[in-house]
Amino acid sequence: MNSRLTLVALTGLSLLSQAAGQTWTHCNPMNTTCPSNPALGSNATFNFVDERPNNKVWNQTAGPMKYGSGGAEFTVAERGQSPTIQSNFYILFGTVSVIMQAARGQGIISSIVLESDDLDEVDWEFIGGNETHVESNYFGKGNTSSFDRAIYHPLDFIPQDSYHNYSTLWTAEKMEWWIDNKLVRTLLYGEANGGYNFPQTPMNVRLGIWAGGDVKNSKGTIEWAGGLTEYKSAYSMFIKSVDVRDFSTGSSYTYGDHSGSWQSIKIAQGNSTILKEIIAPSGVSGHWKALPKTARTAIIACAIGGFVILLLAVIAFCIVQGRKGKKERAIADAQWAKEQQETNQYRMQMMKGGFSYEHKPVQNS
Ligand SMILES: *[C@@H]1O[C@H](CO)[C@@H](O)[C@H](O)[C@H]1NC(C)=O
Ligand SMILES: *[C@@H]1O[C@H](CO)[C@@H](O)[C@H](O)[C@H]1NC(C)=O
Ligand SMILES: *[C@@H]1O[C@H](CO)[C@@H](O)[C@H](O)[C@H]1NC(C)=O
Ligand SMILES: *[C@@H]1O[C@H](CO)[C@@H](O)[C@H](O)[C@H]1NC(C)=O
Ligand SMILES: *[C@@H]1O[C@H](CO)[C@@H](O)[C@H](O)[C@H]1NC(C)=O
Ligand SMILES: *[C@@H]1O[C@H](CO)[C@@H](O)[C@H](O)[C@H]1NC(C)=O
Ligand SMILES: *[C@@H]1O[C@H](CO)[C@@H](O)[C@H](O)[C@H]1NC(C)=O
Repeated sequence: MNSRLTLVALTGLSLLSQAAGQTWTHCNPMNTTCPSNPALGSNATFNFVDERPNNKVWNQTAGPMKYGSGGAEFTVAERGQSPTIQSNFYILFGTVSVIMQAARGQGIISSIVLESDDLDEVDWEFIGGNETHVESNYFGKGNTSSFDRAIYHPLDFIPQDSYHNYSTLWTAEKMEWWIDNKLVRTLLYGEANGGYNFPQTPMNVRLGIWAGGDVKNSKGTIEWAGGLTEYKSAYSMFIKSVDVRDFSTGSSYTYGDHSGSWQSIKIAQGNSTILKEIIAPSGVSGHWKALPKTARTAIIACAIGGFVILLLAVIAFCIVQGRKGKKERAIADAQWAKEQQETNQYRMQMMKGGFSYEHKPVQNS
């Protein structure tokens, strides 16, 4: 986490830009041979309203996460939190559209990031204390040494107050950033350091919130984030849905060499295992999740209903048994008292040795 921030702090390069907390890689194909990237290879829309995503498709790399009526909820409530989810699938050119509401809070950053294993990156970043602008940004092959990539787009709404559609269209020729179906920025291949720093390798999707204004960050990053983060209350960003379209079809993407060029990427033909997981989730919880929400609600209602009916039946049984028991005990008690009385009378008669029916209290018997 924050490898770029560390790098930036070390090299002292950052003043204006800087990158999300999501920017790191397990294996950099520029220097070594890495596992291939599972492909999406198709289109998919992920709804997060009351829906926890399949963890074989989206990985929670930092928590805590909640899924409610506002969608996926990413909250920074205390220091050290940076809830993030990351797609296990990659796309090689395509579109990513996110319906989201950014978080408030000085020094709090809400972000949508596309990231490749060799650190090509495409960003949307929302600065919590800024209600008028959203930033778009990109990086190629982890090159952070430019000061002109970040652009701040004026908005005619407050991004922390309502949901909007932040979309990127990515091809080998150009990158476009769209807000609510309005084109706000175009980057041509050649404009990114002659194409060398144009994002062009398979990317996954990372959605998250982080404290850009944390004291541990560099001065430049804190300034960029709008000042120090104050951990006084909880700050939340919400994502209702993500629509992803992969312009390539196949099962996986592999770097053919260390050039980081899109021409070097090998696309394996076949069915994407992640797509299969999206269409027909595996495992019990997968089957459960695959059911439509109404079906799940119905099953839960039936289960609760069944339980309640069973509970009522048990309670009714107990009450009846209890009453019956009480009645039986009362009968038994009366019987016992009667028998006792008869026995006592019999004893008294025996003691008197006669047949008198005279009643006398029994003493010390
Ligand atoms: C790749 O290796 C070179 C030296 O061999 C190094 O300078 C560079 O930082 C490495 N790049 C990455 C992205 O790890
Ligand atoms: C994906 O969406 C694009 C439009 O963005 C459409 O042309 C294409 O046919 C769709 N592909 C699949 C597999 O549904
Ligand atoms: C999911 O995230 C966890 C936590 O960062 C990590 O340990 C794990 O390797 C990730 N799994 C995948 C499939 O990326
Ligand atoms: C929001 O960002 C824009 C662009 O950087 C800047 O001009 C404006 O002053 C910022 N607003 C606040 C409140 O920081
Ligand atoms: C990084 O980007 C800068 C600015 O575009 C460029 O001058 C420089 O050559 C790039 N460095 C590498 C290693 O590509
Ligand atoms: C979001 O914006 C993109 C680009 O304009 C568009 O293709 C897509 O249909 C929009 N999504 C929704 C849900 O409106
Ligand atoms: C891909 O899936 C289709 C139908 O789901 C199947 O007919 C086909 O054989 C599969 N292809 C491979 C290479 O597994």
